[in-house]
Parts: sequence; C-alpha cells; structure tokens
Amino acid sequence: MDTLFCRNGKAMKRYIIERLLAICVGLCIAQSPSAVEPAPVAAPPSNWLPLAQDDLHDPSNPRLNLLQNPADVLSLLPPDLDGNERYTVVGNRVRWVKALEQGYINPRTNIYPETKIRVLDLNVMITKRDTGELPRVLFPHKPHTAWLDCSNCHEWLFKSKAGATPISMLAILEGEYCGRCHGAVAFPLTQCQRCHSVPFGQPLPPNTVTAPAKTQ
Ligand code: HEC
Ligand code: HEC
Ligand code: HEC
Repeated sequence: MDTLFCRNGKAMKRYIIERLLAICVGLCIAQSPSAVEPAPVAAPPSNWLPLAQDDLHDPSNPRLNLLQNPADVLSLLPPDLDGNERYTVVGNRVRWVKALEQGYINPRTNIYPETKIRVLDLNVMITKRDTGELPRVLFPHKPHTAWLDCSNCHEWLFKSKAGATPISMLAILEGEYCGRCHGAVAFPLTQCQRCHSVPFGQPLPPNTVTAPAKTQ
C-alpha cells in the first residue's frame, strides 16, 4: 500500500476521498427519513419486514409460519442506535455486543467439549498516522473473541504485533482487513465512529497497546 501511495499519492488520495464521499452520501440518503422523526423509546416492529415480504423467503410456502418473524425476537434486543440515539437503518438493527454483554443472549460457545474458548481482553490502538479531525481507531479484542477464535484473524489477516499489518481505509473499503467482516456479517463501514472511537488527546482505555508511531 505504501509503495502505491508513493508512486501515485495524489490519484490514490483522490480515489479514497471519492469512495468515502460516496459512502457518506449513501448514508445521508439512507438515514434521511429517520432524521425528521423523534427518537422512539422501544424498537417498533416496523423496523423489520415479515419473512413473507423480505424477498428472501417464498411467501407461498405453507410452512413459513413455522419460522419466527424477525420483529418478534429482534425487537426484544438492544437496538443499534446512531450517535443521535436514532435507529440505524442498516443491518438487522441490533447492537449484538450489548446483547451479549448484558445477557440478552447466551449463545452456545462450543459443540465439542474439547474446543478451547479463548477470550482476550486487549485493545490495540491501530491509528499510527494523524487522521486529522477523525478520531483514532481502537480495535477491541474482547467483543471479537466473544464470537470468534484467534485463528479467524491471526496470522493470515492480522499480525500479532501492534502496527505490523499495513491496514488502510482504502483496503477496508475494498473488503480487506476489517472489511472482511464489517459490512458483511458485522456492523457496516458507514458507522465510522464505532471504529474511529477515540478522539486525539483523549486517554486510551486500560489494557491498550499502541502501535509505534509512523515516521513519515
Ligand atoms: C470497521 C472499522 C472501521 C470503520 C467502520 C471505518 N474505519 Fe476508517 N479506518 C479503520 C482502520 C483500521 C484504519 C487504519 C488506521 C491507521 O492505520 O491509521 C482507518 C483509517 C481511516 C482513514 C485514514 C486514511 C487511511 O487511508 O487509512 C480515514 C480518512 C478513514 N479511516 C475514514 C473513515 C470514514 C469516513 C469512515 C465512515 C464512512 C470510516 N473510516 C469507517 C477502520 C474503520
Ligand atoms: C477479529 C480479528 C481478531 C481476532 C479474532 C483476534 N485478533 Fe489479535 N489482533 C487483531 C488486530 C487487528 C491486531 C492489531 C494488528 C496490527 O496492529 O497490525 C491484533 C493484535 C494482536 C496482538 C499484538 C498485541 C501487541 O502487544 O502488539 C496479539 C498478541 C494478539 N492480537 C493475540 C490474539 C489472540 C491470542 C487472539 C485469540 C484469543 C486474537 N488475537 C484474536 C485482530 C484479531
Ligand atoms: C473476522 C471478522 C471480523 C474482523 C476481521 C473484524 N471484526 Fe470487528 N466485529 C466482528 C463481529 C462479529 C463483531 C460483533 C458484532 C457487531 O458488532 O456487529 C465486531 C465488533 C466490533 C466492534 C465492537 C462494536 C461494539 O458494539 O462494541 C468494534 C469497535 C470493531 N468490531 C472494530 C473492528 C476493527 C477496527 C477491525 C479491523 C482492525 C475489525 N473490527 C475486524 C467481526 C470482525
């Protein structure tokens, strides 16, 4: 990535900015209806389409009534609210990390008794560069290892050494690194502040390792 930036830094930067603008415009369009409504207190069932209308299930299947409708169950879980306490209109609208931490769900951790569950309470301050006014990116191991094994990420996707992986937003937008999951099975890339969570100057939470500063 760095060599690409060196060879044609301007074009690459323009490309990143264009991609990010496209996302932001998409986000504004997607969220504009909720911007005029007052923030509701409990998740309204209209947040989720019934299975018969979701374009994924066959509405003519007589056994469809054996399945739970998303609104019946997902409305009972902590809602995914944006920075203004309004429902996000992305994904399945559940704050899954909260649902787990607050005991709303208690998924089975293993099928085989010999499977070793490894939960790691370690944050990595990913940002080495000055990202301007954008807060820095803190990667929390704890909520990830609650769902995933170390081998889902190490060593093929991320090195076990803070700062060793050449992560960039462009690569993430292309579906690499964090973008392998975020935007696919975990909260989407439009929720910038969930990753860019620590403003410059704000102290880091405990258990945080920091990548060595970049010299260029
Ligand atoms: C899934 C997590 C995640 C989300 C969501 C996310 N970012 Fe990033 N972003 C990162 C990581 C990781 C880096 C690399 C940080 C570093 O090495 O300095 C980064 C870096 C950046 C950079 C620095 C330039 C670069 O190429 O690395 C910018 C600018 C940026 N992000 C903007 C955004 C914007 C705008 C959004 C929302 C539209 C967003 N990001 C959403 C994880 C995320
Ligand atoms: C969702 C992906 C993911 C999972 C799962 C994951 N890690 Fe990481 N890990 C990362 C990222 C991202 C970094 C930072 C890499 C970088 O900065 O280049 C990291 C960094 C580390 C580091 C370096 C810390 C330092 O002091 O430099 C260690 C050690 C580590 N992980 C161990 C583990 C272990 C043990 C597990 C399983 C219990 C695990 N990781 C699970 C993504 C993950
Ligand atoms: C292997 C899949 C995977 C990768 C790779 C991955 N994540 Fe995640 N991440 C998840 C899942 C699953 C969750 C929990 C579900 C959710 O919040 O949508 C999660 C949750 C998080 C949370 C906690 C959100 C909360 O509600 O507290 C943050 C922050 C986060 N990821 C940032 C990152 C960053 C930054 C990277 C890249 C350095 C990254 N993730 C890479 C799968 C992944």
